[in-house]
Amino acid sequence: MDQAAIPVAPGGEGLLGHNAAMRNDRLGVLGKLARAEGPLLRLRVPPPLRVVVANEPDVVQELLVEKAGSITKSDMLRFALWNLAGEGLFTSTGDLWKRQRRLMAPLFTPKALEAYARDMVACTLRTLEGWGDDRTLSLAHETTRLTMGVAGKTLFEADTFSEADEIGDALTVALDWTGYVMARPSALLHVAAKRACEQVRTRTSGALSSLAARGEQAFTGPVVLWGPRGRALAGAIAFLDAHVQRMIDDRRRTLGTGRTDLLSRLIEAHDEGGTMDDRQVRDEVLTLFVAGHETTATGLAWTLYLAARDPAVYAAMEREADSIDDPPTVADLPRLEVIGRAFREALRLYPPVYMFGRDTLEPMTLAGYALRPRTNVMVSPYGLHHDPKLWPDPERFDPDRFLPEREAGRHRYAWLPFGAGPRVCIGNHFAMMEAALALATLLRRYRFEPAGDDVPEPSATLRPKHGVPMRVVRRPSARKAATLADLEV
Ligand code: HEM
Repeated sequence: MDQAAIPVAPGGEGLLGHNAAMRNDRLGVLGKLARAEGPLLRLRVPPPLRVVVANEPDVVQELLVEKAGSITKSDMLRFALWNLAGEGLFTSTGDLWKRQRRLMAPLFTPKALEAYARDMVACTLRTLEGWGDDRTLSLAHETTRLTMGVAGKTLFEADTFSEADEIGDALTVALDWTGYVMARPSALLHVAAKRACEQVRTRTSGALSSLAARGEQAFTGPVVLWGPRGRALAGAIAFLDAHVQRMIDDRRRTLGTGRTDLLSRLIEAHDEGGTMDDRQVRDEVLTLFVAGHETTATGLAWTLYLAARDPAVYAAMEREADSIDDPPTVADLPRLEVIGRAFREALRLYPPVYMFGRDTLEPMTLAGYALRPRTNVMVSPYGLHHDPKLWPDPERFDPDRFLPEREAGRHRYAWLPFGAGPRVCIGNHFAMMEAALALATLLRRYRFEPAGDDVPEPSATLRPKHGVPMRVVRRPSARKAATLADLEV
């Protein structure tokens, strides 16, 4: 069946179609997709753009796993992340991505990550150092400090807490820009201009074709950054570049001294093509810093937000945290079952990466429909995770959905917080391990009591709009718990 026969998705009825609807009420549109019938739906967007949504797990599997060779990362994503992540693992495509994934995969196996467990616990202890006995705070701010500390320590062996605010500010500016610019008319124009150059390049030869190739490259990212937001982004990127370059220079001076931080491992990683150049290392480091901390921080904040509102679940998590050794180690991870399930369920309800997309590279069929090249196929973990056909009573927080016997009857791709296929999140073990260790350490020491409601706000990730106001009360048993000094870090 032809692409034109794909049913139009609900939620884009206005004059400007889904483009405006996505800008004004992104979660509303994704929620409607969750309840809509049909494996593949079409969005109303201005030509020459073509956007469809893979709306069922079978279609997600067909797209991301079985037909992974016929798709590539979407132009819009690459555009929005270009200044920050360049050709890093998240945004790169083709042979460059293949090589980088091969070089980096050994750094992220569960075994390789064991080296970082201690840092994860130490950063958690450092985060709660200033909490005192009884305070109301923004939990999302605290979990961001925590995961930023972990990212700094594991990536750079650096104590980023001293610079957390400056780095954090720069990253927040860059990520806010990404969330803001996605699907804006100026971004759509850039993507359309890139497509036009691509068509000229493939249909012509000689000087015109090479000119078009240069245009294509120029339109991969923003050509100029205008307005206050643009200037703020340029400043933030300049700050991050200088900071990362200093650290790369420092590592190159001390190569071969047995350092285990990820930056040293990235610099040392090599294959028959040699090692990565500074620009590639910079792109990978910023990619890992961004992909690694904001997502996990959001997941941690939502887990405690949801658990603090469910006394039975909370009590089970606290009992589990109390039942293992303190401080927790990798050996305790298999016993953190309830905590692991609660984290998974929070990622279901509020998946930090709530939507992502792919562009088709060639004519292909999906769910029986013929798609033209350069069709954008959107996947919405938020939509899938709220589909009542896959998740009965989808708005209810119920970690038991992840009991093995209940998981057995569910489609493998109904739960998609880390994506799927060859481009599945390389940091998923890192995130699961960090979350379990951090939650066990926190719950052992503090009682978390709700101090206000929150709602998800779709930006670059699905952040809590009000930062999760939370009362934290030090537990009497915390006096006997291990301290930073015990960890000798
Ligand atoms: C709860 C935490 C996390 C969530 C929800 C998450 C989610 C995702 C998703 C959905 C993708 C695939 C996107 C797509 O297919 O277009 C992805 C890719 C990626 N993630 Fe994560 N992530 C998390 C933690 C991490 C951590 C801790 C790291 C690194 C330390 C990381 C690094 C990456 C990278 C580098 C990619 C690109 C992989 C590739 O394309 O080969 N992520 N992540």
